Amino acid sequence: MKRIDSVAEMKAACREITRAGRSLGFVPTMGALHEGHASLVRASKAQCQATAVSIFVNPLQFAPNEDLAKYPRTLEGDAQMLQALGVDVLFVPTVEEMYPAGATTYVEVGGISDRLDGRSRPGHFRGVATVVAKLFEVVRPNRAFFGQKDAAQVAVLRRMARDLDMDVQLVICPIVREKDGLAMSSRNAYLNAGERQQALVLNRALMRVLYEADRGERDVAKLIAVGESVMAEEPAARLDYFAMVDPDSLAAVSDLSRGALVAVAAFVGTTRLIDNLLLTPR
Ligand code: PAJ
Repeated sequence: MKRIDSVAEMKAACREITRAGRSLGFVPTMGALHEGHASLVRASKAQCQATAVSIFVNPLQFAPNEDLAKYPRTLEGDAQMLQALGVDVLFVPTVEEMYPAGATTYVEVGGISDRLDGRSRPGHFRGVATVVAKLFEVVRPNRAFFGQKDAAQVAVLRRMARDLDMDVQLVICPIVREKDGLAMSSRNAYLNAGERQQALVLNRALMRVLYEADRGERDVAKLIAVGESVMAEEPAARLDYFAMVDPDSLAAVSDLSRGALVAVAAFVGTTRLIDNLLLTPR
């Protein structure tokens, strides 16, 4: 596995792969890697002849009051895991390399960026879209792999790729969970033992909504109320949102005829957690 920290070298390594006629898969990450990330790498390995991964804790997507400084950084362990998975190129740029002094260009995905997590985290998706657009230009992958875990991020990046005519196919992979249902996340490392138990309420609320929908409940407001009431059973979890939206536009749905993304975000202690599920049309 080649480990690269400069944009120029990364471009050269990626061009070498694609000019040789090999398909290139790309998995952007912020590190502190877990099985969720590994699943994306495995998907890329299965679908593409070469795989590049980036590890970059992107300051642009963190608000001043968020966890940029304490975000878990486990680079050596991450590199070992990626090497073992058979990754070809690992890109680990510094902040100065990605954002040289004087950089003033941003990618704004209008509308969707202000919904769900974007509403709670102003500026977050501008940071995500900007860094992913830059990484796509550096790597120019045939396919890029993202997790359904971050459903709003998926909607923003799909729209960005479409609106900017980007020549990359986005591949969305299912949420990888711990045995007890907790969605894997780098931020789970912040949870103490008590919080780790309390965090299960997010998935429990989603499962209750799925259960009620499967039993025939079609009323979106009632389904949201069910989800919110399960969240309220865990007083240690401070609900940010419980929403049922169109997975592409992230706009609220009024019925389930076209299916829905059921998404939840909550603070457990000071840790912000998210989870979601897709309801099929009914
Ligand atoms: P990060 O949180 O490190 O996640 C990198 C990728 O792994 C994202 O596509 C995310 O959805 C996926 N992922 C995380 N947990 C997952 C799980 N439990 N199951 C499946 N996939 C999972 O998302 C980011 O980084 C950043 O915003 C980034 C896109 C790299 C831009 O900075």
